[in-house]
Formats: sequence, C-alpha cells, structure tokens
Amino acid sequence: MAQLIGGLATSHIPAIGGAIHKGLQNEPYWKPFFDGFPPIHAWLGKVRPEVVVVFYNDHGLNFFLDKMPTFAVGAAASYSNADEGWGIPTLPPMAGCPELSWHIINQLIAKEFDVVTCQEMLVDHACSLPMKLFWPNDAVAPVQIVPININTVQFPLPTAGRVYKLGKAVGEAIQSWDSNKRVAVMATGGLSHQLEGERAGFINKKFDLQFLDSMETNPEWVTQFSDLEIVEKAGTQGVELLMWVAMRAALTVGGAGVRKVHSNYHIPISNTATGVLALETV
Ligand code: DHB
Ligand code: FE
Repeated sequence: MAQLIGGLATSHIPAIGGAIHKGLQNEPYWKPFFDGFPPIHAWLGKVRPEVVVVFYNDHGLNFFLDKMPTFAVGAAASYSNADEGWGIPTLPPMAGCPELSWHIINQLIAKEFDVVTCQEMLVDHACSLPMKLFWPNDAVAPVQIVPININTVQFPLPTAGRVYKLGKAVGEAIQSWDSNKRVAVMATGGLSHQLEGERAGFINKKFDLQFLDSMETNPEWVTQFSDLEIVEKAGTQGVELLMWVAMRAALTVGGAGVRKVHSNYHIPISNTATGVLALETV
C-alpha cells in the first residue's frame, strides 16, 4: 500500500514568482519569507515523496466564473501552467499521476463527493509556485502531482467541515492505493488576506497563529466557523486556508499523529500574511 508520509503548506502569492526569477530571496523584504523553507528542503531530501496531492484554488486560469466546480480533480498525465504576468516565466509542464488520480476519483465519488474530473487541466500560480518553493533547485519538481481544486473564488463555497471530510476521504484513498509509492499532501493559499474592497490589506495575525497552532493540535478547530465567519476573520482570500484544512484532514487517516517538521509565519508579502508548514506522519 502507498505510504502517506506527511503534509506541506505554503502561501502562493504571485509576486513570489517575480522574486524567484530575479533572485531576490536574500533581500530584506523577501528573506523572512524564504527563510521558512531550508529546514523543509532538508526534510524533503530525506523523505523524498514521489507523488504529491495538491489542494489548491484556481484563480480564473482553468475555471472561470461561468463554470465553477466546487471540487475538481486532475486526471491528466501532465499539467501545463501559464504565467499570470507577475514575473516568473511560464514553467515547464508538471508530471501527473493518472493512476492515483483515478483511484482518488473513484473513491471520492463512491463516498458521495461528486467531483469534476479533468483529463486536461491548466494549473496556475497556486500550483506552480509551491513547486518552486519546495524544490527550488529543480527545473521541474521531481514528483508526480494530483491537483485537487477547491473553489474559494465564487460563493457559495464548500464549508470548512465539508472540506475536512473531503480531505479525510482523499487521505483514505491514498492509504488504500495499491502502490509502493511515497505520497505527500500539499495545501496552497492563505493565510489571512483581502485584496479588494474597503478592507483591502486586512490581515489578522491572532487568528492566523491560532489556525497554525490548530494544524498541529486540533485540526477540526476551524470547522466550527461558517465560510462567512472565516471571511470575516481571515479576509475574502484568506478563505484559501480551506486548502490547509483538507491537507491536514488527509493526515488524520488511520489515527496517524503528526510531528511538526517546521513552520514559518511572516507579515506581509504583498497584501498577504504568509504561512509555511511541514508535518510528518508518525
Ligand atoms: C495575492 C495573494 C493570493 O493568494 C493570490 O492568489 C493573488 C495575490 C497577493 O497578496 O498579492
Ligand atoms: Fe490566491
């Protein structure tokens, strides 16, 4: 059976792509953010995941407001991306893992998560930038990916409770995959941020730190809140933290505990409170 080795999470602000492209990682503005990664690189070098299931939210590249799936699972052999104009050149396509994709899709639909299946899927900065952050020295991250898109762009959104259940079902699917591969789950997005309207620039450090702590000790904590309450606490785009909820729920399968490998929190990059986290299953 496949081995679920742990989880990764990071913010995915497009400006990070420009910083990587221009080599600004050690500039005072960027260093506190990029400093969150070397301990995680060391861990990844040790555990070497072969397949990564990526919970992310598309921002209009593959899905637009006219057709908005709540949950969509990639089932492609490769995933192309497109530069959204913030500075990083378009990255080479990423390798998919259709075998795990279809296993997850079959398991999810059997458990009444009626996901959209995507045999062609463009992935945006929310999928491509984390690969550059976690595997900075590889032209293409040395992993196969299964992207799972969760709508956090157009209301109605799935509740945190529903997303938690989805993540758990994905974790169960990974654990029941007949393969000897090492699999990790990843979340991208958050933490608190709001890019538009009267509250543009809104950040909530107290909430973010409580959320980060809950990822270790009480992963269901945030499921007490409705999406509107999460928007109130974390901002209209801060609701991207739902990806972290799915990632963390996947790690609860089989009563597995987690050990924190490393975390980082830094305010701000662009208008966003950034969070980075790696958890190992124990
Ligand atoms: C920013 C953050 C995001 O999550 C995103 O998708 C786009 C922009 C920002 O802070 O600029
Ligand atoms: Fe985003």
